[in-house]
This record gives sequence, structure tokens and C-alpha cells, in this order.
Amino acid sequence: MNVTIRFLPDDVTIEAEVGEPLLDVAERAGVFIPTGCLMGTCHACSVEVEGKDIIRACITAVPPGKKELTINLFSDPTW
Ligand code: FES
Repeated sequence: MNVTIRFLPDDVTIEAEVGEPLLDVAERAGVFIPTGCLMGTCHACSVEVEGKDIIRACITAVPPGKKELTINLFSDPTW
């Protein structure tokens, strides 16, 4: 099943498959998520999902059970 992933603040929307790693989805969408360890420990890749949960993109895959997912990349330069 496909999930529509919307990346903010660039407002890029792309289709992804359940279970696809978020970093792969972002790369396909041309969206840059900063990474460090790629193992879930450094939090460099933290992004906000659906305006509430902060997740680490490097250890997160597209979850089942949703048709759409909004990912916010904190591109605020003061962050
Ligand atoms: S790259 Fe280090 S936690 Fe994701």
C-alpha cells in the first residue's frame, strides 16, 4: 500500500511504500535530512511527524495504517 508523504517546509509530496526507510523516501523526494550516526543515537536526523511526534528518520520506516504522513524538517535556521 502506498502512503503519501509530505515534507515540510519545502512542501514536497511523494508516494512511498509502507516499510520504506524514511531517509530513502526523503532522498527520492530530493529532500535533505541531516544524518550522523545512522544508528539512532545522535538525533541529527530528528524530524517531526504529524506536528507532534519527534522521530529519528534513520531508524524509522513508513508506518502502515495511514494514507498520508506529514514530516516537518525543522529548517528554522536558528534551530
Ligand atoms: S543519524 Fe544519528 S540518530 Fe539518526
